[in-house]
Amino acid sequence: MKGVILAGGLGKRLEPLTRITNKHLLAIYNKPMIYYPIQTLVGAGIKDILIVTGGNHAGEFLRLLGNGREFGLKHINYTYQKGEGGIAEALGLAEHFADNDKIIVMLGDNIIEKSIKTHVGDFAKQPKGAKILIKEVEDPERFGVPEIKGEKIINIEEKPKKPKSNYAVTGIYMYDQRVFEIIKTLKPSDRGELEITDVNNEYIVRGEMTFATLDGWWSDCGTHESLLNASKLVAEEVKSQK
Ligand code: G1P
Repeated sequence: MKGVILAGGLGKRLEPLTRITNKHLLAIYNKPMIYYPIQTLVGAGIKDILIVTGGNHAGEFLRLLGNGREFGLKHINYTYQKGEGGIAEALGLAEHFADNDKIIVMLGDNIIEKSIKTHVGDFAKQPKGAKILIKEVEDPERFGVPEIKGEKIINIEEKPKKPKSNYAVTGIYMYDQRVFEIIKTLKPSDRGELEITDVNNEYIVRGEMTFATLDGWWSDCGTHESLLNASKLVAEEVKSQK
């Protein structure tokens, strides 16, 4: 399985922090944000990683990460998203890299505590379709929210005003190679983006979506509040290891 980290976007909700750099290069406690999703994928046994970035600061990723030796990688692949077409559009740029393999996609601003190796192993055995990881949260309206019936997710709503569960769909997604055909059929949402939630709903309609609940803490870093929260969680963990 190959790994794709999405690290584009303008990070508008974090202005002025993101005026002169990319959101994923901001500090989370003692490391740049992008280090954490790379470590998560490497820890899950993924060796072939593509970073999709964009905007005005894309070159800085190469200067910071080089060929990924710091993470035990032989090389890192990079590609560039022009404009602001959304998460699913950014993922579409990974088609050539994926080369018909299964992929695990991680949003570059998702920071997690525990290993996801078991989930990746489960998806490797899944004959086809997709798998997502969900997490119980206090503010589901900020995220993609699954509607769960029995053992199944029957629909996902993007940032609903009245969430149908207390769960968020985390930014960790596993797909078979048909994800790229699905992306080509998507239409832009009201915010003018190709939504990853629409991709996931297509797999749900086909009856090919599985899910698991993420262990340990999880934070995104899209707002000042969540950025601070992620730093606090990492700091506590680093200090507890000393
Ligand atoms: C994105 C997804 C959302 C998901 C979240 C996880 O939201 O659209 O479904 O729950 O990432 O971090 P965004 O960060 O674009 O607001």
